[in-house]
Amino acid sequence: MTPSTDFFLSFDAPESVKKHVVNACYDCHSNTTKYTWFDNVMPIGWWVDNTILKGKTSLNFSVWEQYEGWHKLNLLSAIEFDLKTSKMPPKNYTEYHKSAELSNDQRQEIIDWISTIDRPSLVISKTNNYNYAQD
Ligand code: HEC
Repeated sequence: MTPSTDFFLSFDAPESVKKHVVNACYDCHSNTTKYTWFDNVMPIGWWVDNTILKGKTSLNFSVWEQYEGWHKLNLLSAIEFDLKTSKMPPKNYTEYHKSAELSNDQRQEIIDWISTIDRPSLVISKTNNYNYAQD
């Protein structure tokens, strides 16, 4: 089930971009974690839980629409940076979860799509009622 606040409901992304991001990021950065990749590595279960918790605290694609505009901007930059530097998905995860690995082309495809997002529109909030014309 995709929550109504999911990242990809806010943006019109190509199917392939969605697929790559869900595949490589959603296990740790969404409320739809599939606990399959560590099924046979139970002793490190605590590590997995901790990693997912930390991952979700820094970025949770499932609650994207609940983030403030400034927070969305920071996260988009961080996502771009982590993709460019291959920091994400973490290597110690893809080692055991090969299907979550991203090729350089796939990384580039996501980065290129992110660069098309209209960032100013993210910080122009509907609830911003300041009347700048006042003084
Ligand atoms: C195995 C779990 C895991 C996966 C899969 C994963 N991440 Fe992360 N991510 C984390 C953890 C843990 C943190 C927080 C700690 C840290 O910074 O290392 C984090 C932090 C982040 C942050 C916050 C800024 C930062 O660098 O600390 C961003 C942005 C991010 N991840 C993006 C992504 C993207 C994009 C993907 C998919 C391409 C992804 N992550 C896949 C675990 C994961």
